[in-house]
Formats: sequence, C-alpha cells, structure tokens
Amino acid sequence: MASLSAMGYATNYIPCSTSFFPKKPPQFNNRRRNPVVKFTCKAKNGETSPGKFDRRDVLLGLGGLYSTSLAANPMALANPVFPDYKNCIDATQPNKTPINCCPPPVDPSRVKDFFPSATTVNIRKPAHSFEVGSDYYKKYTSAIIKMKNLSPSDPRNFRQQANVHCANCDEGYTQSGSPKLFYSVHNSWLFFPWHRWYVYFFEKICQNLIDDDTFTLPFWNWDAPEGMQIPSIYNSGLTSPLYDCFRNPEHLPPTVIDLEWSYGEKPVDPKIQIENNLSTMYKQMITQSKTPSDFFGKAYRAGDDTPDVKTTAGQIEKTPHNIMHSWTGTSDDRSNPVDLGALYSSARDPIFYAHHANIDRINFTDRDWLFTSFIFYNEEAKPVRVSIKDCLDITKLGYKYEDVPIPWLDAKPKPRAKAKTLPSAPDPAQVFPITLDKPINVIVKRPKKSGTGSSEEILVIEGIEYDRRNYVKINVYINEDDVNACRSNNTEFLGSFSNLPHGHQMTANGSTKFRISQVLEELGARDYDKVLVTLIPKSNPVKINGIKIEFEDS
Ligand code: C2O
Repeated sequence: MASLSAMGYATNYIPCSTSFFPKKPPQFNNRRRNPVVKFTCKAKNGETSPGKFDRRDVLLGLGGLYSTSLAANPMALANPVFPDYKNCIDATQPNKTPINCCPPPVDPSRVKDFFPSATTVNIRKPAHSFEVGSDYYKKYTSAIIKMKNLSPSDPRNFRQQANVHCANCDEGYTQSGSPKLFYSVHNSWLFFPWHRWYVYFFEKICQNLIDDDTFTLPFWNWDAPEGMQIPSIYNSGLTSPLYDCFRNPEHLPPTVIDLEWSYGEKPVDPKIQIENNLSTMYKQMITQSKTPSDFFGKAYRAGDDTPDVKTTAGQIEKTPHNIMHSWTGTSDDRSNPVDLGALYSSARDPIFYAHHANIDRINFTDRDWLFTSFIFYNEEAKPVRVSIKDCLDITKLGYKYEDVPIPWLDAKPKPRAKAKTLPSAPDPAQVFPITLDKPINVIVKRPKKSGTGSSEEILVIEGIEYDRRNYVKINVYINEDDVNACRSNNTEFLGSFSNLPHGHQMTANGSTKFRISQVLEELGARDYDKVLVTLIPKSNPVKINGIKIEFEDS
C-alpha cells in the first residue's frame, strides 16, 4: 500500500511532548515590559448613548443580522479568486522548514455545490458558560475524541481539519489560473467568509459524529470580561481532548487575555487589563472601522498578488484576531511558534474554533465578493463547493449566537493627558526609509484639506517590509510624550500593526492606516498643523519606508 504521504496526506504529526519547555522564539527581542500604569477610573458619562453607535450598527451585522438584504442584491463579480485545490504543496513553518499539511486531495469531478437551507436554528453559546463535566462538555469532548479517532486519511479527522486550515492559510495552494501566485484566505476580504464556512463544516462534522444535529460549538467571548481568559472547558487537564499543550504557560487561567499583547510582555493587574481590552475593542470596532474595507480587509480577486505581499488585513483580523493567536500559542521545543501562534498549526488547538466563532459573531458583510467560492469536505466526507453569498444569513446555516452583552461599546478610550509639551522630532523625510530596531519619533505635517466635502484624515505607515514567516508587531502612538505611561485604553495609543508567522519566503510590502480626525479632536489637537508619531517595534526589525497623512472621503 502506498504510504499516506505518497498519497498526498500529511503524516508529520508533531505529538505534544510532556517534557516540553517553552522557549522564546529566536527572532524576537523582548524590548520592554508592559508600561507601569496607574489605574484610572471610569469613562465619562454621556458618551455611551446607544444613538452614538448607529454607524457601527449599520456596519457590523453581529452574527450576520444585517446581511440578509445583500443576498437579495447579488452583483456579478467579474473575477472571483479560486485556489487550485488539485495541487497542494508544502506550507512553511515559522522556523522556515517546509511542512506537508495537505488535506486529502479534492477530486473535482466529485465536488457538489452546496446551498444551505437549515430549517432550525441552533444557538452558539459563550464557552465560559459551560462547566467541565456538564452534559454539554461530555458531548463536545466526545465529538472531538471521535474526530481525533477517525482514520488519518478521513478528511474529517481532527488533524486533517487542521490541515484544511494550514493549506488555505499558509499557502498550500496557488491560485487557479495563476500558478505563480499563492492563494491565501488571510489578510483580505476572504478572511471572514472562509472562516465562517470552515467553522460551519467543523460543527457539522461534530454533529454528525455524535448524532446530534442540535450541537453547536461554543464561542470564546474574549470581548467581554467573563470571557477574558482561557475558558475552563479548554483547560480541564492534560488528557482532555479540548486541551492543547502548545499554549503559553504564562497565559493559562486565571491570566486575563491582553488584546494588544506583544511577545515578552508580562500580565498586568487583571482589572487594568480588562479595561484596556474593552478599549482595544472600541478602537478597533468603532474608531478605526468606518468602512467595509477598514473592517475586513481589502478586495482580493483572481490575478491579484498574494494578500499581504501588497495589501494588509482588516482591522479586526490584525487586532484582536492576530493578537489572540499569539497570546494563546507558544513555541515548540525548536523555538518555532506553534499551534495558535502560527497560521500553519493554529487549528490543531480545539480552542481555535471557539476563537473563530467569536470572530464570526462580530462579522459583518458587504457586497462584491459574493460569488467567490471555496471547497470543503462536509460531514459525510464529501467535497462540496460553497459560495460567500450563501453564508451571509447564518440562520440558513442553522445557527446564531446567544445575545450576550457588548461591554466594549462603553469603553471609549480617553486621552492620557491633555496639553502635553511634545518633544521635537525630525521630519519623516530625514528618517525614512528606516529599519525599525528601536523606538522612533517623527513630526508629520498635516496636509491642508481642499474642497468642502467631509473627509477624514488618515495616518498611513507605508512600505512595511518584513519576512512573512516572522512574528511582527509595531505599536503606534500619536501626540504622546510618554509612551511608558500610555495604556491601550488611552486615545494616544492608536493601535498596532501585526503579522502572524505564515506563508512562504516572500517579503510583505504592506501599509497600515489609522483614522485620526476624531482622535486629534479628542486630544485637543484639532488646530495643530503637525502631529508627533511614535513607532515602537515589539519584534525583530522591520523596514519602514514612510509615513504620511492624507485625506479620505467619508
Ligand atoms: Cu485562519 Cu485565526 O486563522
């Protein structure tokens, strides 16, 4: 019999070793610990009336609620991107060695189109609402055990499911029709719909294996205080099928997650951390996500270069999505970021699916990419082709999310200090291009607005060049004279740029942007003709080619 690998199946399963010691991946410097911070109290009142969030409500269809009208308004897409599923190639681990993580090859003649048409709707609930040992826990663990025990060549096998993620997210495929271009479902507008379908079929497989079509996956409600640690069902002992040994040992319960975590940072006071996290959510979902492409990344069509070689992800994919990956994962005994810490291995940790259920919960939708399609193996191990347009209404997929509170709506960041004396700093032309190996300050001129239309000022950091196989994080501040005093819940901290290790050897040449009109207003700097920008590298040096401020029509 041909070996599994000769048949195109991945066989190099790395077992978790009990003698494993987390080491710091070699490519990071721990530049600094979390700043020493003082606890400041509550948000001012009057800024949290529901009316303030109309825009968010329009844009963000929590759980897809706002998406149904789009399905009725299909627009033909000239060029949907599609991977060449027939030819799966090795992915790359962050330590630069190739890894075969190809799921069983798809035979195109067997693929059937699938249109969801559920008649009952199950509710996905927060993972922290379940107890170890409960009936739900028993069902869930039994589904995962059964999945892990399926034949290694069964596409529904737990490791093969993880391989589906690896091949699609770590460039195991090239684009159909463009064999020189790698295909990827990260760092573009494919991120949300692809992961929605992926979690959907994973859930279907669970239902099928335990013969219970009411079973749902839980969501990791990391955007609410009760969900801000690894839920206990995932941490109930080394032998639990929901446990994964490649999680950062410093981040096990009761450590509170840090949605702006950088490698090497130590946990801070939980109360402060929760406040910071809520403000991070506010920043990412409200301050920085005003248009569809802010929210979920750029268009990606047939013939486009691999996402993130030229473009970047949407705000939510970077933070909190990427950060939750790096916060949860760790490195293996070869100092290789692994499991949640890198894209190729992420879905080996069962908590991945709860993480992505939460991303799915805060999904939103827009037209245009409706006709892009993907192939998955369904619960009967048959290949099915699905389109983005068919996943917009999640009730047709047979699930929705429990209506939990959204506490970050009230967590608007506050200026750390008004009326600071800003240090003088060089002009970008004197500084860039630069290899960012230490913090830098620059003074950026604000352009004059032409015309009278309403437009918004955008700070653009351009030409960010890095090896995509490396962990990357850069924190960005505006008009801040003391970054050590500045927390994630301060307005001066604009946010970060991040990369999760993935893909083949290619240099990303991305840019990242921050909306600053509202921020400058809140910092009392509306009339200044210049701003101070501080960049703090939190990873290995990254080359940056420039910074500018431009206007974007709003
Ligand atoms: Cu495809 Cu959170 O990753």
